[in-house]
Parts: sequence; structure tokens; C-alpha cells
Amino acid sequence: MRRSLIAGNWKMNKTIAEAVDLAREVSRAATTAAGREVVIAPTFTALASVSEAIRGSVVGVAGQDLFWEEKGAFTGEIAPLMLKDAGCSHVIIGHSERRQYFGETDDSVCRKVKAALAVGLTPIICVGELLSEREENRTFAVIERQIRGGLDSLAADQVEKLVIAYEPVWAIGTGKTATTVQAEEVHRFIRRLVAEVFGKAAAEKVRILYGGSVTPENIDDLMKEADIDGALVGGASLKPESFARIINFT
Ligand code: PGA
Repeated sequence: MRRSLIAGNWKMNKTIAEAVDLAREVSRAATTAAGREVVIAPTFTALASVSEAIRGSVVGVAGQDLFWEEKGAFTGEIAPLMLKDAGCSHVIIGHSERRQYFGETDDSVCRKVKAALAVGLTPIICVGELLSEREENRTFAVIERQIRGGLDSLAADQVEKLVIAYEPVWAIGTGKTATTVQAEEVHRFIRRLVAEVFGKAAAEKVRILYGGSVTPENIDDLMKEADIDGALVGGASLKPESFARIINFT
């Protein structure tokens, strides 16, 4: 049995004080979500304060990105151990906004995944097709390239620890959720691909989240699907009542 995981991606929002307040609300809401894993990803500047504020709660903290080098002359970058130092257990890697606006590639995603695993951070690796790619029937090809590239030369026992987030780019922040059928179809494809490349055991253990306009209204249906193990939530994770309802999906 895979443990469900709901992760909130706060993107470039919230001051430190606002982030701490929201984190405390999430931590309260998570007490009723027994058996589920809940993670929040504030901005870098708020990580340490948020971790401190919810220390001892069941809610984990994630970075929204990292760099693969340990330290040195890399102005503006954040090293894996710096995230650990700020209290992180997880890190989002390869979000479509990083791919679209900041030149993230499958190769850089792969380096980051390895660097995260090396210090014991759980990577949440994002994949997903653009609307044009879906319309050209290239969804599976794009996902396959992103998974093979992002997970290149990982060992099966590393892959089983990963979290993969399928986020169709056309569904992110647009209010257009993939239907449960569309989502499950890609999730099943990802699990089969992981089985083919890394073996069945890793495929059974790897958790695959859906992301893209997840709301209190659609979470229950999404979570009914066999290969959807949780959600990566953007907009709705900034509203305490909405995120509380999503964490407590039925
Ligand atoms: P959204 O964002 O829930 O606002 O669509 C999801 C994401 O980008 O992870």
C-alpha cells in the first residue's frame, strides 16, 4: 500500500510572517488526516521559520528547487544540505514553471534528483505535457522523455523512494483540471514505464501525484483512481480552508 501524499506548492507567495501563519493552520488541519503525508513548499526565505513554527507536527517542509553542487561560486543557488539545514524533508524538482521560464531540462532535473537523494531529501519530480503536445497526441512521448531523462541511471531502490507529480501544463493555474480518466491514463502509463525501466517493485512503491487545478471539489474523485497516490496543489494550497479539505479528502 502506498501512503497518500498531499503537497502544497506555495510558489512565489507569502512573506515570512504570512507563511508561518498559513503553516500553523495547515498543521492543525493535518491532525485529522491520519495516515496521510502532508508537505508544504514555501519560498526559500520562509523555509527555516516555517520549519521551526511547525516542528513536531506531521507536516513536512519542501524546497521548490535546489542546485546540485554542494557549495561554491554559484550566485543565487541553494545547495541540497542548505535545504536540510532549513528543515526540509522534500524538494520539488522540474516544476513546469522552472522548465518554461528558467531553462530547466531533463538533464538538470536528473542531476538535481541525484543530489537530493544523496542528502536524504525526497524529490517530487514534476512532469507534464503542454496543451500543444496533447493536441498533437504527443502526451505519452513527452512524459516518457521526461521520466527517462529525469530518472536516468538511477537505481531501482532510489526510484522507489521518489515522488513523481504528473502536472499537465494546460491544467496548472487555469481552472481546467484533467478529467479523472485523463489523469489516471497518464498515471498508469508512468507506472508501467517505471516498471519497464526499473522493475515492478519500484513501480509498485513510487508515488505518483496529480497536479493542475486541484480543488476541494475534484480531490475526492481524483483520489479514487488506482494510480493516483496524492496531489500537488498550487492555488488551493494558499487558502487554509481549501487545503484543509483537500488534505482530508474522502
Ligand atoms: P495549481 O498549481 O494547483 O494552481 O494549478 C499546481 C502546481 O503548479 O503545482
